[in-house]
Amino acid sequence: MSNLSALQGKHIVLGITGGIAAYKSATLLRLFIKAGAEVQVVMTPSAKEFITPVTLSALSQKPVVSEFFTANTGEWHSHVDLGLWADCMVIAPATASTIGKMANGVADNMLVTTYLSAKSQVFVAPAMDLDMMAHPSTTRNIESLKSYGNIIIEPQSGFLASGLTGKGRMEEPENIVEVVADFFASRSDSSLAGKKVLVTAGPTYEKIDPVRFIGNYSSGKMGFALAEECAARGAEVTLVAGPVALTTHHPSIRRIDVESAREMLDACTASFPDAEIAIMCAAVADYRPEQMTDKKIKREHTEVPTLRLVKNPDIAATLGKAKRPGQVLVGFALETDNEVANAVEKLERKNLDYIVLNSMRVAGAGFGTDTNAVSIISPQGTVKDVPLMSKDRVAGEIITAITQKN
Ligand code: C5P
Repeated sequence: MSNLSALQGKHIVLGITGGIAAYKSATLLRLFIKAGAEVQVVMTPSAKEFITPVTLSALSQKPVVSEFFTANTGEWHSHVDLGLWADCMVIAPATASTIGKMANGVADNMLVTTYLSAKSQVFVAPAMDLDMMAHPSTTRNIESLKSYGNIIIEPQSGFLASGLTGKGRMEEPENIVEVVADFFASRSDSSLAGKKVLVTAGPTYEKIDPVRFIGNYSSGKMGFALAEECAARGAEVTLVAGPVALTTHHPSIRRIDVESAREMLDACTASFPDAEIAIMCAAVADYRPEQMTDKKIKREHTEVPTLRLVKNPDIAATLGKAKRPGQVLVGFALETDNEVANAVEKLERKNLDYIVLNSMRVAGAGFGTDTNAVSIISPQGTVKDVPLMSKDRVAGEIITAITQKN
């Protein structure tokens, strides 16, 4: 379902930087205007080498802002006013240089000063050559932007202007517009106002000795995206997180950090009675060592140790047993064979209301990535397929599907 109508009347600052993909910014601008948004273009000086301000001012029906002053009149362009005017800021394309300046507060042009003054949500669509994209400095700067709460619209892999093929192509304008429209649609959606939601996320670590553990590759990104989505729709969220390197942004998220499955179970059983919805997204370790030695197991002086494992509690099934009428319990599944049949069996066995099947077949879905592709299976056995998209957008699709009847 398209949320383009959510852009009606919105004030968008479109920041354009100097990369080849700037030619696509005209299409992006056109699509925003077509959806009813008012757009103010801010360009870096080098962006003008790639696309003319005349094209952009004609499409936006506003003079393009690029300098701090208009040279002949001395008129000052206030980045503070622009920052206040904006309902959101979209920087597309964002070059490595501008991303670096944004991450580090290097305010030497109108675009970066406006960014630093912006009070609203900022979307960043990077575009650059694959080596620049893969450079640790770009990775670090993008991580900084994420930690400021900016939404990164990931570049795609494909044919690049350099003639090389790899990750760095700016996301297509149609998709950028959809991401921004989804954002406004979910913000105006207060369908979960006053509701309490419990979300689990990330892996669990099961200690072997003080320095070693059994864990898994779960990054927690899907669970964190679900928590943000529920909070954006007005819910009070308790996020029980295993060890992950992620931050939360919405003030309505109460985060409880745990390490082991048993700690996660304790936090969940404490919160579940109050929750209307519980989403079990964590990749809980199925087994833990029977014993944790309190001293590091040494390589010298010991026989090769044998690890005896015992079963961990099944948190989802425990909550399933305690579930009251009206509570909605959602699980996740990762299956390698008979995917849907196994997921439905799990839904029944754990007394879940919905199960979200992570696709093992789609490249870019699953552990660690920023994207996912899932199938949402309802109690009636209906399956809604969600194709590969960002985990933020997948979260929106999941919450919409599981709340349709609430
Ligand atoms: O049985 P399986 O691990 O495939 O089930 C996955 C679902 O069960 C996920 O929703 C996961 O969060 C949940 N789970 C749990 N506690 C466990 C194992 C899985 O809550 N010990």
